[in-house]
Amino acid sequence: MLIDTHCHLYKEYYENINNIIEISKKNGVSYYISNGCDTKSNQEVLQSTEEYQNLYGALGIHPEMVDSYTKQDLEYIKDHISNPKIVAIGEIGLDYYYTKDNKEKQIELFESQLSLAEKYNMPVIIHSREAIEDTINILKKYNVNGIIHSFSGSLETAKIYIKMGFLLGINGVVTFKNCKLKETLKNIPLEYIVLETDSPYLTPVPFRGKQNNPSHILNIAKFIAEIYEIPLEELIDTTTYNVKKMFKKMTIE
Ligand code: NI
Repeated sequence: MLIDTHCHLYKEYYENINNIIEISKKNGVSYYISNGCDTKSNQEVLQSTEEYQNLYGALGIHPEMVDSYTKQDLEYIKDHISNPKIVAIGEIGLDYYYTKDNKEKQIELFESQLSLAEKYNMPVIIHSREAIEDTINILKKYNVNGIIHSFSGSLETAKIYIKMGFLLGINGVVTFKNCKLKETLKNIPLEYIVLETDSPYLTPVPFRGKQNNPSHILNIAKFIAEIYEIPLEELIDTTTYNVKKMFKKMTIE
């Protein structure tokens, strides 16, 4: 039983989501957390959680939406936060890759969603790119936990996040040539790791160049099991247990 804790199963990426779910099922994928980025995708996430029993959702405004979001977008999250299939606030965070100029606005958006998560006792799914220091300092101000999505930082950074109660979301990036994460992971206990694909992005080796989908999580799992030198089953069981513990609203059998 594999769980994709971070994907974006939107119609703009996938012509036939049924098909994607079927293919993924064949590879042992049992549960999904589809993450929203703005109100349009948040609505779609919510709708797909109604359509698919094993699909759960996270609602959030992505930092890249910082210049276009409105108060209504935050209201939408709040209005649906108590939905039983909505298990986290995400994808939220900070992204200084393209620009740092809107840093203050990004922080404001991030903090308003962290307060929501804190108030409603919801885990958060964090996007942090070129913004480690600010991410850590801001997260420290809130009583929240969740997943650091697409973690690829240093062991030192991993330890800080773990101490704060976060799990590290590992995806196809770990399979990329020259990725230092392979070495770092060896020093991070498996009890802090969860699996994700970030579909349709970050396609793992050997599917580079193709669109990613949750079925590829099997390859990521196999790759990580080799890093830890443990049987695939053990890796799957432990990471599934980690998800269960963090996302209390998910019914995992
Ligand atoms: Ni994502």
